[in-house]
Amino acid sequence: MTAPVVGQIPPGVVTLEDHARHAQTVLDANAWAYFSGGAGDEITVRANRSAWDSLQLLPRVLQPLAGGHTRVELLGRTLAHPILLAPVAYQRMAHPDGELASAYAAAALGAGMVLSTQSSVAMETIATCAGTDCANGPFYFQLYLQHDRGFTRELVQRAEHAGFEALVLTVDAPTNGARDRERRAGFRLPPGISAVNLAGLPPAPALQPGQSALFDGLLKHAPTWDDIAWLQTQTRLPILLKGVLHPDDARQAARLGAAGVIVSNHGGRTLDTTPATAHMLPRIVEAVDGQIPVLVDGGIRRGTDVLKAIALGASAVLVGRPYVYGLANAGAVGVAHVLRLLRDELEIAMALCGCATLAQASPALIFKPT
Ligand code: FNR
Ligand code: LAC
Repeated sequence: MTAPVVGQIPPGVVTLEDHARHAQTVLDANAWAYFSGGAGDEITVRANRSAWDSLQLLPRVLQPLAGGHTRVELLGRTLAHPILLAPVAYQRMAHPDGELASAYAAAALGAGMVLSTQSSVAMETIATCAGTDCANGPFYFQLYLQHDRGFTRELVQRAEHAGFEALVLTVDAPTNGARDRERRAGFRLPPGISAVNLAGLPPAPALQPGQSALFDGLLKHAPTWDDIAWLQTQTRLPILLKGVLHPDDARQAARLGAAGVIVSNHGGRTLDTTPATAHMLPRIVEAVDGQIPVLVDGGIRRGTDVLKAIALGASAVLVGRPYVYGLANAGAVGVAHVLRLLRDELEIAMALCGCATLAQASPALIFKPT
């Protein structure tokens, strides 16, 4: 593997939305449809964003701020800041260095990274090149259970062996959503880009005539609550569930020994018209009642969004599309820029809200109109 191509931040790109606009000019229509698109009418994609916007911060003045910091605790580790890279598949479609560039940027900026099962760079390459040094943010492996349980077990063992610190089991995507933009664009993976971690996966059993490809095919092997117990017997790694929206599911996750939940609707890519994650976060925090950490993603584009999430009880946040746009614009440098912008904005928002530490960000920071 060669070192990432050093990119340059395009002039005038100073926010995550600037990165998005510029990326649209860099990516071809196929890749843009895949990375930017959501399910159905993209109502949830927009709702995620507007929900953070609709929350108002009520600042306190004259608070002592010297010596403040953005550190948080997560799964027994101190992180420099609470921003992680969400799992996003096929990143070599955005830039030739793909997930490796994102991993380098995450390591350099002390950000955690969740590597997708459908990564276009092998998990071992990420671990070897970007390292699993304790000074970096943690690397977690996102798991999609495969129809072949033996193969799934091997995936888990590979992730453990490579030094990933946790498994993130995605539970909100037993099938893809109806992604119209991809269909209109005739989306296809370009030659040479594939889910390399899944190389060697035996083909799924053939369907009988008259069987449904969805209900008798894909969903026959989709994870259920029983599989959490199975997965726990296969690994010593903590398991987080990603894609939880209902408080009862969060309670069940805690009861079954999950190490955390990620409040997520897959960035609006699976079921359209679900509630925004910003709106479900406080309910899920209440449901798990401090038993396990709660993380959140979906529509986080500003440091103020990060602060709002922490104020509402999140331990950390993940961003998806924005860093892929940074990757498209300038490789590893672009991803690092996105992380730096978000962290700088978070620090400014903390200072202006009167929070020297994130422990001081409580629900009282969010204004409740009467
Ligand atoms: C995703 N997401 C995702 N999630 C997951 O668990 N495994 C995966 O392989 C992928 N792949 C993926 C591809 C693309 C192109 C996108 C945009 C998203 C969902 C992702 O982890 C995260 O939940 C959302 O992207 C968060 O929303 P924002 O930040 O993109 O608004
Ligand atoms: C997606 C799958 C890979 O959202 O999770 O494209």
